[in-house]
Amino acid sequence: MNISVVGTGYVGLVVGACLAETGNDVVCADVMESKIENLKRNILPIYEPGLEDLVERNQQHGRLNFTTDIGAAIASADVLFIAVGTPPDEDGSADLQHVLAVARQVGKHMTREMVIVTKSTVPVGTAGKVAAEIRKHAKFPFHMCSNPEFLKEGAAVDDFMKPDRVVLGVASDFAREMMTEIYAPFVRTGKPIIFMDIASAEMTKYAANGMLATRISFMNEIANLCERVGANVDMVRKGIGSDSRIGPSFLFPGPGYGGSCFPKDVKALVRTGVEMGMDLQILTAVEQVNERQKLRLAEKLREAIGEDLSGIHVAMWGLAFKPQTDDMRDAPSLKLIEDLLEAGATVCAHDPAAMNEARHRLGDTITYAETNYDCLKNADALVVITDWNEYRHPDFARVKESLRRPVIVDGRNLYDPEKMREHGIRYYSMGRVKVEQPAAMRVGESA
Ligand SMILES: NC(=O)c1ccc[n+]([C@@H]2O[C@H](COP(=O)([O-])OP(=O)(O)OC[C@H]3O[C@@H](n4cnc5c(N)ncnc54)[C@H](O)[C@@H]3O)[C@@H](O)[C@H]2O)c1
Repeated sequence: MNISVVGTGYVGLVVGACLAETGNDVVCADVMESKIENLKRNILPIYEPGLEDLVERNQQHGRLNFTTDIGAAIASADVLFIAVGTPPDEDGSADLQHVLAVARQVGKHMTREMVIVTKSTVPVGTAGKVAAEIRKHAKFPFHMCSNPEFLKEGAAVDDFMKPDRVVLGVASDFAREMMTEIYAPFVRTGKPIIFMDIASAEMTKYAANGMLATRISFMNEIANLCERVGANVDMVRKGIGSDSRIGPSFLFPGPGYGGSCFPKDVKALVRTGVEMGMDLQILTAVEQVNERQKLRLAEKLREAIGEDLSGIHVAMWGLAFKPQTDDMRDAPSLKLIEDLLEAGATVCAHDPAAMNEARHRLGDTITYAETNYDCLKNADALVVITDWNEYRHPDFARVKESLRRPVIVDGRNLYDPEKMREHGIRYYSMGRVKVEQPAAMRVGESA
């Protein structure tokens, strides 16, 4: 099938490469010339495990092509995926200018009956707006489809290749048949394609992200309360996660959610509520709790070092909003760095993938270390903010020796408090007792 994907970011590039991998002829189009020129040479704009191989192989076999000519991409397509960004507008609503800019071109350039797929996360009603733009110039029939994307950055290729489910909002048999054919190779193990009306498909994506963000904020609040009452959130997490009604995912406490989706999608859903005359109280609280949670690591640093952080040098392990990605959009690390610099502290950071992205965003406001150990030199404390695997088992003797003070603030609960006590490290984590507390006082540690 001839498929074009407009918008070659995290989502568009993964979608394009995976659809080429199953034998389709795919054109990926983007307005950013430098991005497209690099992609033609197999230089990827993002770090995403497994993606480079896919792009290289499918380009080599001629099934995957890159262009800045959006019109030509539309002209060659039976199915067009719109995967451009939908950043938050000033009022929190999803800014649809890029989606509608693509829609405006579709009618002018289409050469056949087409399916137009909104892959971008868009509020209910967007497919209608896209269709209205296309209709202004359309010379052929077209069929709208809402196909929200549920991939996780860091596991995006796997998620697309082996989805839990595919959600398709359609309004015609033509769209239904074309989309069934496209997704058939990805659901061979029996995972469902769930067909529904377009409005429900658009809403499903926001409801999914709203629910996941809610779990994170809920667990962060429980973790904060655990600290007050002397409970251990790791035990509480296991205790509730083993309940099949709750399940174990997205219950890890941390420094607040970030990334390109949860923050903006929660905002957009709250805004949809406002537009519909509804106050979405749970999601409003989810967002507030998250903003507050982003301050927790700085609070813990102050607890460890003292109120005045001026002149303090902080080592930071991790910058990306989560491991296996270089994405720093809305990352909690950015808020922490901002707070530390404002307080007169200095920061040296390390991240296995996001160093270029960090340099681009932060310039020389902080310093950067080649290795996580280099980062520790002359630091008064280490803050762990992203749970990269390589931070899980460091040489603690070396860590302690490099630090000016033996302080670790662990935003991801990577380490065992008991071990930290043995190493003589003052250890502050999320929702667990501090290491100074006598072992006998700990709740549930032996379980
Ligand atoms: N990143 C994720 O994990 C993820 C997951 C699911 C859904 N989504 C949704 O998918 C959409 C895209 O997200 P992303 O993270 O890939 O964004 P991104 O910013 O990485 O990529 C968007 C791309 O669209 C291009 N673009 C903008 N306007 C254009 C136009 N008029 N014509 C052609 N190209 C244009 C940009 O140059 C950019 O390369 C968003 O709606 C997002 O909410 C993202």
